[in-house]
Amino acid sequence: MKPKVYITRKIPKEVAEQIAEVCYVRMWEEEDIPVPRPVLQKELADSDGLYCLLTENIDSDLLDNAPRLRVISNMAVGYNNIDIETASERGIMVTNTPSVLTQTTADLTFALLMATSRRIVESSDFLRRGEWKTWSPMLLTGQDVYGSTLGIIGLGQIGESVAQRAKGFDMRVLYYNRSRKLEAEKQLGIQYTDMETLLKESDFICILTPLTPETRHLIGRKELSLMKNTSVLINTARGGIVDEEALYDALKEKEIWAAGLDVFEQEPVSMDHPLFTLSNVVTLPHIGSASFHTRMQMARLAAENLLTALLGDIPKNLVNA
Ligand code: DGY
Repeated sequence: MKPKVYITRKIPKEVAEQIAEVCYVRMWEEEDIPVPRPVLQKELADSDGLYCLLTENIDSDLLDNAPRLRVISNMAVGYNNIDIETASERGIMVTNTPSVLTQTTADLTFALLMATSRRIVESSDFLRRGEWKTWSPMLLTGQDVYGSTLGIIGLGQIGESVAQRAKGFDMRVLYYNRSRKLEAEKQLGIQYTDMETLLKESDFICILTPLTPETRHLIGRKELSLMKNTSVLINTARGGIVDEEALYDALKEKEIWAAGLDVFEQEPVSMDHPLFTLSNVVTLPHIGSASFHTRMQMARLAAENLLTALLGDIPKNLVNA
């Protein structure tokens, strides 16, 4: 008998068809609405495999009602949306999609860095509002990227790729990570520091670490107060790593220069969020990996991981080995 798989969002047709060759597939067909929890709960009652997105909170309540589930394939590199401990206790394999999105996410991180430092969005809005009267010596002046200091929090694959880009801008690169990466230090000419030094010395700080209980609100009031008032904070990892209330205050009080955010504590972020009242924030709707090519690769890799597990082998990207 074919294993039963539930897919929580409409995925590219060719990928769904690939899964359907070996599985009995059901899929939530609404393009831009997450599957309602009662529907997911019902579907999981007799599913062997789950193909999900970071929008689904796969917690122990759901897993309690999924007696046949053998694999959860997350179409994302981050998997903070899944209760890994419970999944592991139940012998459920969990997989993610690393590597394929590294360069695309590093590109977007750098795009945010450039956009915030040189006030790209603000300047474009200024022009379109008809406020441009004349060229003026100090009009819309920002911060230099070339030759500045970049601090990377979390030196995984994306962190290393951002460091590579920074080298092209002749930046001095500092990093803070759970462990030192001597090879990367040598290859990229980057320097390991403690968190406090990184916060104090960096002109740009990029958050590229996973969200875990240890990294929740890693950047709060104290950390923001250590940053220079000309510095820029970029977050393309997970919103929960930054205390947004503290960030709002730091930006409003000009304790830091600007922030570029692709992620928020609550997604989608509410349109009455105080951050939207500030002109020194560039905000994006979690599009770090959103190039056509990369999203296709993520979709395919998630399918490959799912099918490998259902066929009884160890998937390439098992996170709870
Ligand atoms: C991920 O994969 O975790 C990103 O946040 C979305 O691509």
